[in-house]
Amino acid sequence: MDSYSDKVIEHFMCPQNAHTMPDADAEGMVGDPACGDCLVMYIKVQDNKIADISYLVYGCCAAVATSSMTTVLARGKTLDEALSITEEDIVEALDGLPEAKLHCSVLGVSALRKVINNYLELIQSKQ
Ligand code: FES
Repeated sequence: MDSYSDKVIEHFMCPQNAHTMPDADAEGMVGDPACGDCLVMYIKVQDNKIADISYLVYGCCAAVATSSMTTVLARGKTLDEALSITEEDIVEALDGLPEAKLHCSVLGVSALRKVINNYLELIQSKQ
């Protein structure tokens, strides 16, 4: 695949859940040192499920689209279900990514795992 799918363009032009969350239960930041892109993700958790999720990203078209799709797929999932979301799930949900942009899908999944793990650490430290 050489060009962006309609779904990638849709999520780039109208990113879902792209905002800060001042009352988040946890946040997690990741960056790709190779390209300088950076992503911070926020979650609110209720009954062990992701009740709300958002992010801010500084990055390429694919980074925006994959971050957006990551939040769409993770919303409403249990923490375990969200932790098992893979880069392949994101790429598949976006109807593919150009070969050169496959690495961008790592950013959203890494941020999702980081924010969930940060949340779990916070919970544990309070027990
Ligand atoms: Fe860096 Fe896309 S080029 S995430």
